[in-house]
Amino acid sequence: MIVDDQGREYIDAMASLWYANVGFGREEIADVIAEQTRRLGAFHTFDPFTNPQSEELAAKIVDLSPFERARVFFGSSGSEAVDTAMKLARIAQREAGRPEKHIIVSRERGYHGTNYGGTSVQGIAPNRDGWGPLVPGIINVVADDDEAMKRIFAEHGDEIAAVITEPIQGAAGVWPPPEGYLSHLRDLCDTYGAYLIFDEVITGFGRTGRWFGAQFYGVTPDMITFAKAVTSGYVPLSGVIVGPAVVDGLEANEGFILRTGYTYSGHPAACAVALKCIEIQERESLLERAVAIGELLGAGLRALKDDGMVTDVRGEGGVWGITVPDPVNLVATRDALLDEGVNLRPIPPNHFSMCPPLVITDGQIDSILAALRKVLGAAE
Ligand SMILES: Cc1ncc(COP(=O)(O)O)c(C=O)c1O
Repeated sequence: MIVDDQGREYIDAMASLWYANVGFGREEIADVIAEQTRRLGAFHTFDPFTNPQSEELAAKIVDLSPFERARVFFGSSGSEAVDTAMKLARIAQREAGRPEKHIIVSRERGYHGTNYGGTSVQGIAPNRDGWGPLVPGIINVVADDDEAMKRIFAEHGDEIAAVITEPIQGAAGVWPPPEGYLSHLRDLCDTYGAYLIFDEVITGFGRTGRWFGAQFYGVTPDMITFAKAVTSGYVPLSGVIVGPAVVDGLEANEGFILRTGYTYSGHPAACAVALKCIEIQERESLLERAVAIGELLGAGLRALKDDGMVTDVRGEGGVWGITVPDPVNLVATRDALLDEGVNLRPIPPNHFSMCPPLVITDGQIDSILAALRKVLGAAE
């Protein structure tokens, strides 16, 4: 529940901005921040420094990840994680003796944040406009077309450092991959020696019912970016899980020094909160809850489609998108839903997304569906 300045209550069907997996207002998280701030509020982690919270969190994240061996780079925002993964891909290829491999391929409809790397690999065209010149060496490919991806590799394979994609494209309206798409992408990357980066800023930390979308789809990338739900947004934290192929590239030359890092990389309070959020998700079985949410919400949304109020339903676990019939005034529809006490995210031209906290109750899911039925039914 969220409450506005007039005291009106809303069911937040978006977990704020795709992140509040454990819900809002947890006293035990406030306590962790207070305790950690008293013990060690902050101290940087540039060589040779570290702190127990970031070490423990990195080990835990590797444990939860699909990798048998990995290292974790910490930042504060999803955008920092994406730009870092792009930089790591290029420099690891260089260190592995393949300096010509510099191109980064991304997919249309992809959202990768707002720093220059992320803006350059943006698949949502209006988000790229006007910021130029963007980072060179980027190719944006049609979203769901295996053949188009194969053609790009056939033309540029020797120069491709990495492909970046969200396992489920989120900000453009929630688009799961076509059957087999991600494993074909894995095969292509293997054939041409390119790294596969999964941007799991939305799907990471339980959204699909698995810790990572990589595990949900059974496809292991070479790097995973994460942010948002790692701390449920209580404090900013992000990172890149760097799998064995990239680690081996980075460690190929003994004298190599990784010259990238942020002031707040490995911030102890943020890492302590992340450890607590993971503990809560485990203690309260919130991954299993994501699966149950998917069953209830998915069935309800498909019923709206059967009744003609929605033209498309997409999603997995705790993340869903719908398309509403044209013509639609998205903002007016969003406002009408707010009047019904439900917060959804409108996505132009005609989509809404849902990504509720994983602590949402069945009754609250029913209320979301009832509000949609009332508002979209009235618009027919
Ligand atoms: C897949 C993905 N990558 C990156 C980002 C950027 O994260 P941030 O806004 O924390 O920089 C987002 C934000 O929504 C995202 O959904």
